[in-house]
Amino acid sequence: MQLLDGKLTAQSIRIELKEAVDKRKASGHKIPHLVAVLIGSDGGSLTYVNAKVKACQEIGFESTLLHYEDISEEGLLQKVNELNEDENVDGFIVQLPLPEHIDELKITKAIDPRKDVDGFHPENIGNMVLNLPGFLPATPAGIVELIRRNGIETSGKDCLVIGRSNIVGTPMSILLARNGEPGNCTVTLTHSRTKDLKEKTRNADIIIAAIGRPEFLTADMVKEGAVVIDVGTTRVPDASKKSGWALKGDVDFERVAPKCSYITPVPGGVGPMTIASLMINTLRAMELNGK
Ligand code: GUN
Repeated sequence: MQLLDGKLTAQSIRIELKEAVDKRKASGHKIPHLVAVLIGSDGGSLTYVNAKVKACQEIGFESTLLHYEDISEEGLLQKVNELNEDENVDGFIVQLPLPEHIDELKITKAIDPRKDVDGFHPENIGNMVLNLPGFLPATPAGIVELIRRNGIETSGKDCLVIGRSNIVGTPMSILLARNGEPGNCTVTLTHSRTKDLKEKTRNADIIIAAIGRPEFLTADMVKEGAVVIDVGTTRVPDASKKSGWALKGDVDFERVAPKCSYITPVPGGVGPMTIASLMINTLRAMELNGK
């Protein structure tokens, strides 16, 4: 079993990005500026947004965190429009989930696709489906990069995705099925209505677990030699931790890992790769906008 170390892979991406930024600075160019918008005080979202800001600082990007305890939908739409117009902002994200009184799709559609470094705008999703240039959603793109940089063969493999969310499961199934490297998988996208899930997971060469149910994927569901990617990050109570909680993935890591050829840990697997992808998208946003 080999650990797919997202922390290490993300670190090497950050080093490459820092070199690119340093070069730009040395030649008198602007540095990329990422803005993150956070509404409310959900602990998980706050942690992720802080990690995004910290990654910017490490690489030498400019970053701004706009944190609102509460805001109306109208107010947020206005902020999005300001960010769209702001020449000093290369890319921005609105951290999800949003409070119930705000329509997520309305906000996502209001973001200028050229600044949509999360890759959630319908125009970017459309470009992804058609294999045209655009921004790829950060988590699936990070997983593809993790697979690529660790030399894992995907062509012709049977890949099973658990969970059909707009930001992970669905785009993941598209990226791994498309004609590319990595890619060329035969993908099965499974969800709550799927019949005989265990039979399907047991036949898969690559499993992407993205449902947000701690330790859902158990050892009896995995075949020998499978590649297992765990996207889950649920906080569960843990009295042994200072914070009082621990992060749990969707995979029963301890029992599944011995059967795998490769497996990602939680934390330290997909999470850091999501952030690295966002940084890659931000640098590209600046370049694409001709700065
Ligand atoms: N919530 C969970 N993952 C993400 C992400 O990649 N981007 C944003 N904006 N919100 C999220």
